[in-house]
Amino acid sequence: MGKALFITGTGTDVGKTYVTALIVKRLRDAGLDAGYYKAAISGAEKLEDGSLYAGDAMYVKEIAELTETQEELVSYVYEAAVSPHLAAQINNDPIDFDVVERDFRRALAAHDYLTMEGSGGIICPLRWDKEHHVILDDLVRRLKLGALIVADAGLGTINAAVLTIEHLRGRGIPVRGIILNRFHEGDIMEEDNYAMIEEITGVKIVATVGSGDEALDMDAKKLAALYE
Ligand SMILES: Nc1ncnc2c1ncn2[C@@H]1O[C@H](COP(=O)(O)OP(=O)(O)O)[C@@H](O)[C@H]1O
Ligand SMILES: [Mg+2]
Repeated sequence: MGKALFITGTGTDVGKTYVTALIVKRLRDAGLDAGYYKAAISGAEKLEDGSLYAGDAMYVKEIAELTETQEELVSYVYEAAVSPHLAAQINNDPIDFDVVERDFRRALAAHDYLTMEGSGGIICPLRWDKEHHVILDDLVRRLKLGALIVADAGLGTINAAVLTIEHLRGRGIPVRGIILNRFHEGDIMEEDNYAMIEEITGVKIVATVGSGDEALDMDAKKLAALYE
């Protein structure tokens, strides 16, 4: 039974998948047994044979050289590029959280360090119908995970990062750290964002990632210590 870490972001497209791939690759390059799992992907590309291509999972698979199939890496794949709850409504294929938990536990049993990527930001509705009202943070609580936040380094990130941390804390989800993405060393505003987020929240920025970075500049032992 491995340890796990949940990757959330301050929003969609902030670089969760990009950074997650570097995280899994960093652990694997250090000789650790690291894997990836995502509950639901929407906005998947339809291939010529009619199947759906789960871009996030397949990107991490390629960068981190994972051997799993798409089906093992992600439980629900939707074509519509909308929130999973709406994509599921459109497809009449709601998320069954018992299936998610089963797939998550299977992935956790197969690896020592499992990185689970969230969809969107932390307030991402996963299922919203007559029977169930489930937001991503409910799933993180159910799976008892700690969260690492990917935030863009640029303008507006203090607000987005602090609100995300406040919300995680309010829901009792342990915040394990922050990674600032598309960070430019020496940029006066980005350096200030770095310092202000740490000062306001008390949460450490554990690494920064620059545009086009092909490796995560972080000690593998420190990275592994974020998993519980
Ligand atoms: N540090 C980076 N350098 C280069 N491209 C990046 C970087 N971070 C993100 N991107 C690109 O930005 C887009 C959105 O990033 P992605 O990781 O898919 O975001 P998310 O998973 O949070 O939705 C993708 O095309 C990704 O390749
Ligand atoms: Mg992603």
